[in-house]
Amino acid sequence: MSKPSVYVTRLIPQVGIDLLQAECQVEINPHDRPLTHQELLENVQGRDGILCLLTDKIDAEVFDAAQGVKGIANYAVGYDNIDVPEATKRGIPVSNTPGVLTDATAEMAWALLFAVCRRVVESDAVMRSGQWPGWGPLQFIGGDVTGATLGIVGAGRIGTAMGLKSKGFQMKVLYSDAIRNEVLEQQLQAEKVDFDTLLEHSDYVSIHVPLMPETRHLFGKNAFQRMKKTAYLINTSRGPVVNEAELVDALQAGEIAGAALDVYEKEPVMAEGLKDLKNVVITPHTASATISSRGGMARLAATNLLAMLKGAKAPNCLNP
Ligand code: DGY
Repeated sequence: MSKPSVYVTRLIPQVGIDLLQAECQVEINPHDRPLTHQELLENVQGRDGILCLLTDKIDAEVFDAAQGVKGIANYAVGYDNIDVPEATKRGIPVSNTPGVLTDATAEMAWALLFAVCRRVVESDAVMRSGQWPGWGPLQFIGGDVTGATLGIVGAGRIGTAMGLKSKGFQMKVLYSDAIRNEVLEQQLQAEKVDFDTLLEHSDYVSIHVPLMPETRHLFGKNAFQRMKKTAYLINTSRGPVVNEAELVDALQAGEIAGAALDVYEKEPVMAEGLKDLKNVVITPHTASATISSRGGMARLAATNLLAMLKGAKAPNCLNP
């Protein structure tokens, strides 16, 4: 019997490729860039399985092109790039990679939080420019973390991990979510509050919601106006949760103290003016970029795909 044919839309860590190659005929996008939609449509034809990335838009056109596909495994926990309801309607199983990048993403939220409030990137630039005149009592004064209030928007896996890592800083933790988070409440005496209350009282607002119609542009002009002028915004979730143009306006107007972003509304492009602001830290969607996380994602995506190819339910099936 011939091996199932699998297409991998971009090279992922070898551990995932090895798992797939043990049982399948594997072809990998040879370019070190995302495929164009046209290339994606051409390459998925006749495949039994597809391992895709968050940069691939997996929509009805792809399902049409990939007639007979037995499963699509996303190499990401977020899956707003896939039209899951449409896949479900067509009986195509899809999966994601939850759990393996939780700590890495929470750690990155902390890295960004510190970088922006202690002005690490701005200071680093001055040091490299050779313009540092020596120690000064008014140089690079930033926000305090110990004892401050941390607001977590979306208290799922990553939001919870981000909150728990605040333990050493004796912070007051607020969270907003549709459901109660007993872990945060028991371990940190965190308080569940509504979104507006969280914005009004937090010194740091860290975003951990998935991108859905309800969360698109959750952060815009109104949200920034509610936040403290001394507060910082951290986003490691999905770019379109923040209205980036309105964030630039808010930062320019001093409505909030700063923002640290790992994700952008129209990746890889950023809103006009964002990169020129000193009170902004910007990283290239690398929150999950640790050795164990990316390896774990590769392993999990491959495991999910192999299960689907055998007609079994993927461990991380997204179809209801
Ligand atoms: C995800 O998995 O959704 C991240 O954004 C990339 O690792």
